[in-house]
Amino acid sequence: MSFPVDVVVMAAGKGTRMKSQKPKVLHRLAGRALAQRVLDTAAGLNARSVVVITGHGADQVEAGLRAPLLASGAAVPLQFVRQEPQLGTGHAVQQAEPVLPDDGVTLVLSGDVPLTEAATLQALLSACAGQHLALLTLNMPDPAGYGRIVRAADGAVQAIVEHKDASDTQRAITEIYSGIMAVPTRLLRGWLARLDNRNAQNEYYLTDVVKFAVADGCVVLGHCISDALQVAGVNSPVQLAALERAHQRRVAHALMEQGVRLADPARIDLRGTLECGQDVDIDVNCVFDGCVRIGDGVRIGANCVIANCRIEAGAVIHPFTHIDGEQAGATVGAGALIGPFARLRPGAQLGAEVHIGNFVEVKNSTMARGAKANHLAYLGDATVGERVNYGAGSITANYDGANKHRTVIEADVHIGSNCVLVAPVTIGAGGTVGGGSTITKNTEPGALSVARGKQTSVANYQRPQKKPAGG
Ligand code: UD1
Ligand code: CA
Repeated sequence: MSFPVDVVVMAAGKGTRMKSQKPKVLHRLAGRALAQRVLDTAAGLNARSVVVITGHGADQVEAGLRAPLLASGAAVPLQFVRQEPQLGTGHAVQQAEPVLPDDGVTLVLSGDVPLTEAATLQALLSACAGQHLALLTLNMPDPAGYGRIVRAADGAVQAIVEHKDASDTQRAITEIYSGIMAVPTRLLRGWLARLDNRNAQNEYYLTDVVKFAVADGCVVLGHCISDALQVAGVNSPVQLAALERAHQRRVAHALMEQGVRLADPARIDLRGTLECGQDVDIDVNCVFDGCVRIGDGVRIGANCVIANCRIEAGAVIHPFTHIDGEQAGATVGAGALIGPFARLRPGAQLGAEVHIGNFVEVKNSTMARGAKANHLAYLGDATVGERVNYGAGSITANYDGANKHRTVIEADVHIGSNCVLVAPVTIGAGGTVGGGSTITKNTEPGALSVARGKQTSVANYQRPQKKPAGG
């Protein structure tokens, strides 16, 4: 683009129909706030600056969107401008006008239209070419509620008429305004000054700039697209859910196009980024969040929730497994078997061929090749060597109430069932810990360690008898 682009995101409206305490633009689609999605797209345009207009719930919206905007490594300056009270979309952009430099193009976006693609906006900016008023439009079979694009006999755009102000003839027009426009800032400034609120809603309509542009002899272009999802706005929980589904369907299709086999494309939810190798199978009702990378031939069973982790080639994640590496990440090694009902937490680093079975929790622990914890166990802050077998019901007592300590279990150790390893402690290579032991001291390599009460037996023991009734 040969001209600087300054983005204005309108996010001050109330969103009454959401019937929520939370401002509308902070409601989430595929795991990200609606307005955050708009900002992500803006960042992808290499905009010079982004201005967000806030009003209703401004403190919350500003706090929710403050994360830095990054475009190809560079930070895009993000500023907030308040609109109090909210007197319409034209009034909203009037609040941003003082901070918009004259030499750029203003791209107006709505905080509640989350799925517009960067390429669409690039095309709109190209149409604007730094000198025209370019409107993103769409033909809708049911255009009720939207502003209509009024064209002259020769096709030239003459005005946008809001539904509430439209005549019956105008209401029959199916080409609608998306709420998105690209406009040379120096022209916009003059037109904004001429807005009034003499209309059905007594609002200052941004859409009225079109008639001023026409009057001034500025070229007005309607850039019409056919993909309704890209201009769909969210006004109610029903619309939010419908848009979420439509988006998920699209994402699922893209995965299948890459060769990923989904048991049912209608039953997957992707809320972050998912990279898949070849021959990945994903069963129904899985949710992926954050950054997930899956290697060749991995199988994911039904009802798994998987976030922020890497799963290497050939691993199998059985049903109902929960993995979330959060900031630290988590790794499942090649050929590992996880679950069903397993839980991997931040810092779980599992090597190749590791087995984690049902009701086993692993946090901030490394497990080397071939180590196994198959039933009902906890490994926290542990370093586990190759081929270790960690028995059912065993736990690392890693927390003394104030600090966390590490447990080291060297290669080829066998930990029996129901053991407590009180950290810091090291179990020497090849050692064995008898079932039910509470281990508080380091053990020598190769040793058998047993730390539990000695068994006693009373011969021919008679259990107490119930007294006869009334006696
Ligand atoms: C607007 C357009 C309409 C278009 C439709 C597309 C106007 C006058 N009409 O109508 O032509 O077809 O979008 O979805 O622009 N907002 C503010 N401050 C305000 C009012 C609104 O920031 O005072 C924000 C809202 O938070 C929202 C956006 O502007 O993000 C659009 O406002 P909304 O009231 O939804 O406009 P529509 O009536 O849908
Ligand atoms: Ca709207």
